[in-house]
Amino acid sequence: MNNDPILIVGGAGKTGCRVEARLRQRGLATRSASRSTPIPFDWAARAGWPAALEGAAKAYVTYHPDVSLPSAANDIAALSELAGKAGLQHIVLLSGRGEPGAQAAESALRASGMPWTIVRSSWFDQNFSEGYLVDAILAGEVALPARAVPEPFVDVDDIADVVTAALTDARHIGKLYEVTGPRAITFSQAVAEISKAVGRQIRYTQISSAAFAEGMRGIGVPDDVIHLLDELFAVTLDGRNCEVQSGVTEALGRPAGDFADFARDAAAADAWRI
Ligand SMILES: NC(=O)c1ccc[n+]([C@@H]2O[C@H](COP(=O)([O-])OP(=O)(O)OC[C@H]3O[C@@H](n4cnc5c(N)ncnc54)[C@H](OP(=O)(O)O)[C@@H]3O)[C@@H](O)[C@H]2O)c1
Repeated sequence: MNNDPILIVGGAGKTGCRVEARLRQRGLATRSASRSTPIPFDWAARAGWPAALEGAAKAYVTYHPDVSLPSAANDIAALSELAGKAGLQHIVLLSGRGEPGAQAAESALRASGMPWTIVRSSWFDQNFSEGYLVDAILAGEVALPARAVPEPFVDVDDIADVVTAALTDARHIGKLYEVTGPRAITFSQAVAEISKAVGRQIRYTQISSAAFAEGMRGIGVPDDVIHLLDELFAVTLDGRNCEVQSGVTEALGRPAGDFADFARDAAAADAWRI
């Protein structure tokens, strides 16, 4: 493999930073790209994309704010076309399970002619420790419009391992890995496991969509983000994604990490220290 950089779109994100660390550990050059990097990349400003792609060997692509958005398919198609023109050899796309918009983005990549790998993920464990649920955990109550539908939360370290394997071994080209954790649990059970791991009472309360929107507005979350989150809860937690899938084992030959281990390790690393 030559040492042209591997472009990581969303490199400071929950998966991007882990993928970058793994590639660097292997001595590979990387180029993190987002709105705040030296070579900026903004999904809302296509004029800047060629500079981010120039000279890169491959790319790991995360779409922001969410790959289920209607704009994702067109943007992924346009980026893939530019990547082909710039001479990139492979794109690995992070996708989401059971989301029609995400599946349209996957189709756009597959139709582009660019060698591809798709990592289609369930909800991340780290939404609770690095994402939008941290403050609720710290406050002792998580209130969401999520019913008692089990979700096989996945550890983003497993996602990063799968993405790194895909970027460094051509056998993963043309593969779609549906990555989940080994066990489906409800939000209420997930919060109970975190509560046990930190040794503090943390409650889960199911609330209506309207109450969720009102609470989010109260802390200044923009309406489009509220709408997106509400739709994700309604669509991805209607039972369609309950089943555990074997993408981590298929890609890596080992099982995915369990939510209880994530909660124990995150608590030990002070993710929820008050
Ligand atoms: N969370 C989940 O449970 C879940 C599950 C399945 C799939 N996904 C997918 O995962 C993706 C998010 O990945 P992640 O969680 O690793 O990322 P993340 O932690 O949300 O990443 C934030 C990164 O995005 C960059 N960013 C924000 N707006 C941008 C824009 N307009 N253009 C370019 N970069 C932008 C930020 O950097 P700057 O501020 O410097 O721009 C930052 O580096 C989404 O596509 C989502 O659909 C998430």
